[in-house]
Amino acid sequence: MPLLLLALAGGAVYIPTVMYFGMSPTNTDVGYAPKQPVPYSHALHAGQLGLDCRYCHTTVEKAAFAAVPPTQTCMNCHTNIKTESPLLAPIRDSQQTGKSVPWKKIHDLPDYAYFNHSIHVNKGVGCVTCHGRVDKMEVVRQVQPLSMGWCLECHRAPEKNLRPRDKVTDMTWTPAEMNTTQEVLGPELKKAYNVHNATYMTSCYTCHR
Ligand code: HEC
Ligand code: HEC
Ligand code: HEC
Ligand code: HEC
Ligand code: HEC
Repeated sequence: MPLLLLALAGGAVYIPTVMYFGMSPTNTDVGYAPKQPVPYSHALHAGQLGLDCRYCHTTVEKAAFAAVPPTQTCMNCHTNIKTESPLLAPIRDSQQTGKSVPWKKIHDLPDYAYFNHSIHVNKGVGCVTCHGRVDKMEVVRQVQPLSMGWCLECHRAPEKNLRPRDKVTDMTWTPAEMNTTQEVLGPELKKAYNVHNATYMTSCYTCHR
């Protein structure tokens, strides 16, 4: 467990490093929404057009990482739609040169904290719980602190935030749709999905490996 050894042994060096990364805007600033090379709108594509998140973020269910889509995914439509749009020039350039679009990363945990999308998504934690109403965002912004305290709050009582697996990308789902309440459904899903107990979920090694 290198992090903890480091924390214990090299506290004096370690703490300033952590302070620096902890306060850097790319890590934990709620509201962080950098300007992107193309003004791609989730409100239009995921909201109005109703594209499922997984159409573009194809790896969320299988991998730790939620991959931002390659240029070809955009060109599936934009070879026919808005082909002359100046806003899409960087996408067309990218297709011609084969260089990927330099999208700026918004959510970014420090390397010493381990996160995995597929585990969360497969145990019924919805995108909206951690990312907010992305389907209404013209520009994606971070809505949760992504701090250790925030992670732990859910890990202590995950049943408050579990939903059926097939609803993970549904931005408006509520238990009322199934004529039930979170108090009843949450613990049922926790059992059905074999979610670990709080001791495991809050142990340091779970997130610092
Ligand atoms: C048509 C493709 C497409 C669809 C559909 C889509 N996204 Fe995205 N998403 C992108 C692109 C491109 C980016 C990078 C540019 C940006 O941040 O807007 C991105 C960025 C993001 C980010 C920020 C990533 C980071 O850097 O931290 C999140 C979170 C996200 N999407 C969530 C969602 C969710 C949730 C849905 C479903 C409601 C969704 N996306 C649907 C293409 C898509
Ligand atoms: C399923 C089809 C589809 C996909 C995939 C898609 N788009 Fe779009 N996009 C559209 C449609 C439809 C419009 C709206 C066109 C209109 O306003 O008439 C649009 C509009 C846009 C616009 C606004 C263009 C303008 O001049 O107003 C941008 C920018 C854009 N898309 C970027 C992207 C990017 C970047 C991706 C890949 C991450 C992408 N789109 C993927 C269908 C798609
Ligand atoms: C339990 C909280 C949680 C859930 C649920 C979640 N995300 Fe994330 N997401 C994060 C965190 C934390 C990061 C930053 C990860 C990092 O920096 O290592 C992130 C980063 C991203 C990124 C940037 C690429 C990456 O992997 O770092 C995209 C895109 C994204 N999420 C999309 C989604 C989509 C789509 C869903 C639903 C299918 C989803 N997320 C569900 C917490 C979550
Ligand atoms: C809204 C609830 C929620 C939030 C927020 C959340 N998690 Fe989780 N996390 C879960 C659930 C549910 C599981 C599944 C546990 C299982 O597999 O038994 C999980 C599992 C994990 C696992 C895998 C444990 C294992 O070995 O199986 C890691 C690592 C993890 N989370 C890290 C994080 C980090 C880091 C954050 C904060 C950036 C975070 N989580 C935020 C609910 C959440
Ligand atoms: C559910 C996941 C999770 C668990 C469990 C967890 N941590 Fe963390 N920890 C994080 C995340 C995420 C960060 C980064 C927070 C940030 O960027 O602000 C972090 C940051 C830290 C830091 C840096 C200082 C800080 O607060 O920012 C230390 C030290 C630390 N953790 C120690 C521990 C110890 C000791 C335990 C066990 C008692 C533990 N962590 C359990 C997720 C976790």
